[in-house]
Amino acid sequence: MVFLCHPDTVKPLLSSKDNHKSSLMPKIFKPHLGNSIFVQNGPEWRRSRKLLTPTFHFKVLRHYLKESIEVIGKHTASLKAKALENVDVQESMTELTLAILLKNIFSVDAEDTDWGHAFTTATKNCDDWVARRIDKPLFLLFDYLYFRSEDGKGFQKDADTMKRICKKVIAERRALHKARGGNTSAESNDRLDFLDLILFTEDANGQRMDDDEVEAQTITFMSAGFGTTASAVSFTLYCLAKHPEYQERCYQEANEVLTGDSVEFADLNKLETLYKCFKESTRLYPPAGGIARDLTEPTEINGVVVDAGTTVIASIYGIHHNPLVWPDPEKFDPERFADTAPKRDPYSYLLFSAGPRNCIGQKFAEMQSKIILAKLIQAFKFSIPDNAEELKLVPSVILKAKDGVRITMTPR
Ligand code: HEM
Repeated sequence: MVFLCHPDTVKPLLSSKDNHKSSLMPKIFKPHLGNSIFVQNGPEWRRSRKLLTPTFHFKVLRHYLKESIEVIGKHTASLKAKALENVDVQESMTELTLAILLKNIFSVDAEDTDWGHAFTTATKNCDDWVARRIDKPLFLLFDYLYFRSEDGKGFQKDADTMKRICKKVIAERRALHKARGGNTSAESNDRLDFLDLILFTEDANGQRMDDDEVEAQTITFMSAGFGTTASAVSFTLYCLAKHPEYQERCYQEANEVLTGDSVEFADLNKLETLYKCFKESTRLYPPAGGIARDLTEPTEINGVVVDAGTTVIASIYGIHHNPLVWPDPEKFDPERFADTAPKRDPYSYLLFSAGPRNCIGQKFAEMQSKIILAKLIQAFKFSIPDNAEELKLVPSVILKAKDGVRITMTPR
């Protein structure tokens, strides 16, 4: 296994179209995600990527934004009704991002369905099961042992719940489309949810996805979207709580930009200080700590030819903390991302990876993170609780803090 911590060395790895995801990825993720974009390689992956890219078109994002603001409003109101000392924002943001995805993917609120809570709980549980499995080498290596263990059975139960619900919802939606005449017009694209879009999307041969594909891609978007975004937002709130001068600037900026209830997509681009703080926080605490690939051909890395078949890890955390790339790397300094800062190699900040297999949800995740952060900063002042301990980071599938990200939230 080769471990890389510099932009120059990860570039050939991530810019290649041909390297495969590490074989550990399908082993860990396929049992609950199915055969989706996340685990596919080669032509199968290219087809999925083409079919799914339009689900994050600008017009669609505008619709997602409107829906998300409603969910954030409800979550903020429920937070205001609670005692807000020493809140684990990691947990709170996980709940919020799951609710947002449920709304954007299926157009439902968990409490208005008989399945929403079961679906989001099973999704979160699967994430936790995977994190536990990765920590136990025997379970990681041997499916036979894992699926006979209590952990494996718990995981399977939650994976089955997700799939059962998803199948039912897909069947109901197909029936609804049929009842409405079976198709969509391009003009209505700005009101469709993710499930509509992937049911209607067509490949170059005019072929749509079958039920198994729709199910796998839907579960994948739900699973890939919530924990990563929750972690990015939680660590940004933590950094802002530690740096009140930047928090105050973000607050002033949010009040200038987000004046009414309705927020236009273009408004989010005006949240410049907030965006710099988000980038700097996720440089320090990148939710995806690394990217694993298996080389499909011998590849020269830093003057050394590495054999085909070798697993190579591009360490996002390592690059983001490398003093050769980021001087004084542990210092929180959002000005590193100012427009006037010296230009950096695009591979030096890899929150969403880079190259052809970068995060397909990047624009969506940035939009969600900005609007969640801005709305929360308008509603609360964030501070670090008295006697708070230093964060104990747990490097797993997603970077988290062992005892949560604890913050005191004072309503404004
Ligand atoms: C701040 C939030 C997010 C972060 C930090 C993040 C990070 C990443 C990274 C680093 C990768 C590359 C993984 C690899 O190559 O092994 C990736 C891929 C992916 N992400 Fe995200 N992601 C975020 C949010 C989202 C959201 C909201 C969605 C969907 C709703 C999403 C869906 C995906 C998918 C489907 C892939 C696989 C793309 C492919 O292989 O072509 N992500 N993400």
